[in-house]
Amino acid sequence: MPAHPAAERHFDPFSRALHWLTAIAVLIAFILGPGGFGRMVRQGIDPATRPDIVWHESLGVLVFVLTLVRLGWMAMRPAAPQFEMSSWMRTASKCVMGLMVLLVLLVPITAMITLGSKGVPATLLGGVRLNALGFLSGTPFGALTDWGDVHGFLGDALMWLAGVHAAAALYHQFLLRDGVLASMLPWLDRRRS
Ligand code: HEM
Repeated sequence: MPAHPAAERHFDPFSRALHWLTAIAVLIAFILGPGGFGRMVRQGIDPATRPDIVWHESLGVLVFVLTLVRLGWMAMRPAAPQFEMSSWMRTASKCVMGLMVLLVLLVPITAMITLGSKGVPATLLGGVRLNALGFLSGTPFGALTDWGDVHGFLGDALMWLAGVHAAAALYHQFLLRDGVLASMLPWLDRRRS
């Protein structure tokens, strides 16, 4: 089913850039997700000496910032393209999108809680150390649970949801052929744009 005839068929370039930058950063951050972090800290190893951790945390912070920019941009950007689809599909798509936005915010937030509760600063590219929630160390909230497990679980959930989101985009592109994926990748749609 095509987009409403009068509507714009593509997201604006800034929305597309934010979308793909976030997707790439989330994927690489996930691949670099550090296991055995607590043991490493207890052994007195400085996370700044581990490039995988520095990249993981830097990309994770980037994802958080990009998401805040994206939410701000969504409030003021040109109208997003609208596509005709069944109501269950529209509802499912809104639920998946809403959950993904929630997770891309909660995953970095729980990471900062993890680090704060362990009394360890985030170690970012350029030698930056960020001790945003250091005050949590030794507090009942910091000791409430293993926040690293919560962070890892939410990171896994985000990737599962991203998989569902990508599968749905491919379903729209190759079975429904309605231009939903092309709205984020305009070169897929050259003939019609
Ligand atoms: C979208 C962004 C992120 C994703 C998808 C993500 C994903 C993950 C995953 C899946 C793990 C578990 C790895 C394993 O147990 O094998 C993990 C661990 C970890 N991540 Fe992230 N993460 C993100 C952002 C961040 C940020 C922003 C920081 C810090 C600034 C961070 C710091 C950590 C730390 C310290 C651990 C180890 C936790 C522990 O075991 O105690 N992550 N991450």
